[in-house]
Amino acid sequence: MGIKGTCFVCDECGELSYRWLGRCPGCGEYGSMRERKEDSEGSLRERVEDLPQPQPIFARGMEESRISTGMDELDRVLGGGAVLGSLVLLGGEPGTGKSTLLLQAASRWAAQGIRVLLVSGEESAAQVGSRATRLGISHPELLLLCESDLEVLERVVRKVKPEIMIVDSLQTVWLPGVDSPPGGVSQMRESVFRLQRMAKENGMAVFLVGHVTKEGVVAGPKLVEHMVDCVLFFEGDRFDGLRILRAVKNRFGSSSEVGIFEMTDEGLKEVSDPSHRFVAHRKSPVAGTASAVVVEGKRPLAVEVQALVAPTCLPTPKRVSSGVDPKRLAVNVAVLERRVGIRLADRDIYVGLTGGLRVCEPSLDLAVCLAVASSYLDKPLSLGTIVLGEVSLTGEVHRVSRMSDRIREAERLGYSRIILPRSFLEETKGRGLSKGLELMGVEDVKEALRAVGLLRSS
Ligand code: TYD
Ligand code: MG
Repeated sequence: MGIKGTCFVCDECGELSYRWLGRCPGCGEYGSMRERKEDSEGSLRERVEDLPQPQPIFARGMEESRISTGMDELDRVLGGGAVLGSLVLLGGEPGTGKSTLLLQAASRWAAQGIRVLLVSGEESAAQVGSRATRLGISHPELLLLCESDLEVLERVVRKVKPEIMIVDSLQTVWLPGVDSPPGGVSQMRESVFRLQRMAKENGMAVFLVGHVTKEGVVAGPKLVEHMVDCVLFFEGDRFDGLRILRAVKNRFGSSSEVGIFEMTDEGLKEVSDPSHRFVAHRKSPVAGTASAVVVEGKRPLAVEVQALVAPTCLPTPKRVSSGVDPKRLAVNVAVLERRVGIRLADRDIYVGLTGGLRVCEPSLDLAVCLAVASSYLDKPLSLGTIVLGEVSLTGEVHRVSRMSDRIREAERLGYSRIILPRSFLEETKGRGLSKGLELMGVEDVKEALRAVGLLRSS
């Protein structure tokens, strides 16, 4: 028995409906449902023997085969290495180092004897070659093809049989039969379909480089993100070496992992102990600094907040932040004014994070408050102090996520004292927390300022 008739399929996300809808229930796009005649005799399997057999979840041989890159920072974000038969999209702004990252990964795979095909539609063989030479990469298993016609590529893949294929970039490849220019929506959609088929049929892992628009999404329909197994973003500032690789979607692993790299003259270097990079190593304390531990992906990282409070000559004083959320900075400054009584209305305030990291989470609130107060009063916090906590509009200090992980990281780095919300200490009664650290619970910002010696105890 089969269902015959008409159905409607969404152009953007592939959602199926048996009646026409103005708005796709899957992705919310308007006018994207297209009619498709369904002749299901051929597609639905008629006989019971033809039906696929469901298997127990933990059946042997069901786990995917992975190829590790040997670069821990990349493997972790991928969920343990490249999965054969999968499609990975690597997005990022131009110049962040997407081509460099994949070239370095390719060289690691090739060094293990894995055949890698690097398809460049963007750069000439000479350009890729000179980058490879500069990075000291030359392996017989690392093959380069400068081609953008996917039908030609399909034939090459059948002949060469690579285990890993890198396509740089998705916006430059095209299919001759599709009536839209390379980089166009239908061209990209059809290209991804074709690449997906190539990945499955040849059992290879395919990495696609995708350019990012100003809005921060991979250019082209959302569909591309829906179609691939894994979406990674490479973020970084052109003027700073720090690069963060984030998994946004991962069918084969966690989507909250991050990898940290640094762009150097010899290519990307893994930063395996980032906390050491983000905190300044000082011999004596400096006013206007406070350290905290933030969580990026799943990793706790120690960071230093630096603040400079200076008299203003402007009617509206400046509030400049780099790496710290400007809205949170405004709230923290208002709390210092109203709840603590520090007059900042005639001061310019500059706040930044060392190391080029950008953090939006509220765990930095207390550190921002203390750094600003410390600069205003020109008194430093003692060395070896970490401050953790979200500051509410009432000036109270609240706990943040993953407190224990943050405390452990502070201890590992040799800090001696942590200022944290008293409610957290009361809840846990110090159970399972570190013995080598002094944990000081505070109720509100004022108390925190007293605890670090910025305000005199009343
Ligand atoms: P690239 O990988 O071409 O970026 P994308 O493919 O994302 O556009 O590299 C971008 C920048 O990195 C380029 O401006 C030069 C710099 N770079 C280095 O600083 N060191 C290096 O070893 C390499 C290869 C590139
Ligand atoms: Mg590139």
